[in-house]
Amino acid sequence: MCSIIGYNGQLFVAPLLVDSLKRMEYRGYDSVGIATINNGKILLKKGVGKVLEVDGTLDLKSMKGFTGIGHTRWATHGGVTEINAHPHYCCTDSIAIAHNGIIENHRELKEELIDLGHVFKSDTDSEVIAHLLENYYNDQKNLKKSVMKTCSRLKGAYAFVAAFEDGTICGSRYNEPLIIGTVDTGNFLSSDILGFIEFTDKAIFLDNRDIVILDSNTYQIYDSDGKNVDRTATQVAWELAAIDKGKYSHHTLKEIHEQPKALEKVGISSLDKIEEFCKVLSKSKTVFLTGSGTSYHCALIAKHLLSNFGKIHAETLMSSEFQYTLAGVDNSSVLLAFSQSGETADVLHAVKAAKQMGAKILSIVNVSTSSLARISDSFLVTSCGPEVGVAATKSFTTQLSLVYMIADRLCNGCLGFSANRSLVIDAICEVLDSEKEFCGIAEKIHPARDIYVLGRSIHYPIALEGALKIKELSYIHAEGIAAGELKHGPLALIDRDSYVIILNPSDSTSDRNIASAHEIKARGATIIGISDLPNEVYDIFIKIPKIPSIECGAIYPIIEVIPLQILAYYLSLVRNIDPDYPRNLAKSVTVM
Ligand code: G6P
Repeated sequence: MCSIIGYNGQLFVAPLLVDSLKRMEYRGYDSVGIATINNGKILLKKGVGKVLEVDGTLDLKSMKGFTGIGHTRWATHGGVTEINAHPHYCCTDSIAIAHNGIIENHRELKEELIDLGHVFKSDTDSEVIAHLLENYYNDQKNLKKSVMKTCSRLKGAYAFVAAFEDGTICGSRYNEPLIIGTVDTGNFLSSDILGFIEFTDKAIFLDNRDIVILDSNTYQIYDSDGKNVDRTATQVAWELAAIDKGKYSHHTLKEIHEQPKALEKVGISSLDKIEEFCKVLSKSKTVFLTGSGTSYHCALIAKHLLSNFGKIHAETLMSSEFQYTLAGVDNSSVLLAFSQSGETADVLHAVKAAKQMGAKILSIVNVSTSSLARISDSFLVTSCGPEVGVAATKSFTTQLSLVYMIADRLCNGCLGFSANRSLVIDAICEVLDSEKEFCGIAEKIHPARDIYVLGRSIHYPIALEGALKIKELSYIHAEGIAAGELKHGPLALIDRDSYVIILNPSDSTSDRNIASAHEIKARGATIIGISDLPNEVYDIFIKIPKIPSIECGAIYPIIEVIPLQILAYYLSLVRNIDPDYPRNLAKSVTVM
């Protein structure tokens, strides 16, 4: 799970590659490298750290040439070292490659290539691509054929770009994204449209096993048999280019604050699509709901809403587990998949498996040009703009909004979300206005060894989401617990050093939550209550507004998640962690 970029054109390539990699850093950020071609030689610089850090020490931007490739890495095979950073040279330094994915048969290929005399420098699976290309190019002296032959040997998922010292860039993909960006001043090959959106909104999404060759002013696409193929260009949204932090110190904080605006518009121009979703969902025997990470938490809430308000039989499974329980999926089923990026490998795998079993595929994505959107029978877009912070915030609440709109439509408005959307947004704004108070709370609780987040019923997925935000952003061990399960095990962990957050808006779960809070307090833990009403049992009280015209507690999740997002953000600052780029994580996990 990395980002790759290639460019061949009339502009100085190094500054352009560095800027592209900076924009795609969300895909992985443990090491960086670029290779440029100058006077028939491939120059290469790489190092450990983020794009700006490596550029600062190695002065990547000063590298000469008009053609080149670049990479940001999220380590899968081989530690985080300069040697394992991409690009990788072949033996003679006449080819350099950058790869995203996992080459499953790299061991066999490496042994075979070593027997042929190739010398490997890194511990990565990716380096085999450089040596295979070299091997076949030496045999055939035909670039296209050597790429075809190389691809035919690779098992696993890949997207790669390769720079040849004659000034050609080529690439191919299988189950990892690779997109051509084309403009008068040159052509790009990139993992994401963010790699070239500053230059062009014309994108060509490659099919699996397509092979591309970029010369300085043209590009050719071939299928795996080497036949010329045409792929239509898609116009992508320029607004994706707007990914600066504005007045905020971090993308994460900016994205938390963007939620009211995003919630105002989400779904408004898709009412017909929502209607279509409702029809498909109502007709299905079972709706399977899936996603990973935060998107999975949205799927859990969707199960509550579709079952209780839509009277639909719904099952939820995290995408990484979906493949193990496919029994029951058939042509009377619908799979509704949630994914901000639309590129998460586990989600795509689940979707493909369900599709094969005959299920209809619906999805909710933030990127309308993503792989998930493209393989779905129909999709809805959250349209919340690019989310750069690794911890999902605005993509989650906009996903939730679409689910609320669907459930509300299914029960003819009984949920009250659509009619009261502006009140929900006002409530979120009120929590955001009290942001500074969270800094003080974070100061108090940041030495915590463990933080438990408790919720019942529809609040349980928010307990999971809150715990996920806290562990991602602050590295404090945090666990979301269904409040009713406390006495079945977790209570054994509670002592004077524990911190317990209780999600307790005044609804039908409230009295039992207060009882649980007393049980916890009796064991000496500190209790943080998130509620519309204060209670003497809370040591720290975080107020969320009550929405008078809505009776139903099912609306609270979209409001109560906001204080958890802000708290996690401030915990990261107090603990001196960069909230935008938590260690070992990546925004978009495109490997399984
Ligand atoms: C990664 C990110 C999470 C995200 C999950 C699913 O694990 O770190 O923040 O929730 O992927 O991403 P998706 O793009 O499919 O919603």
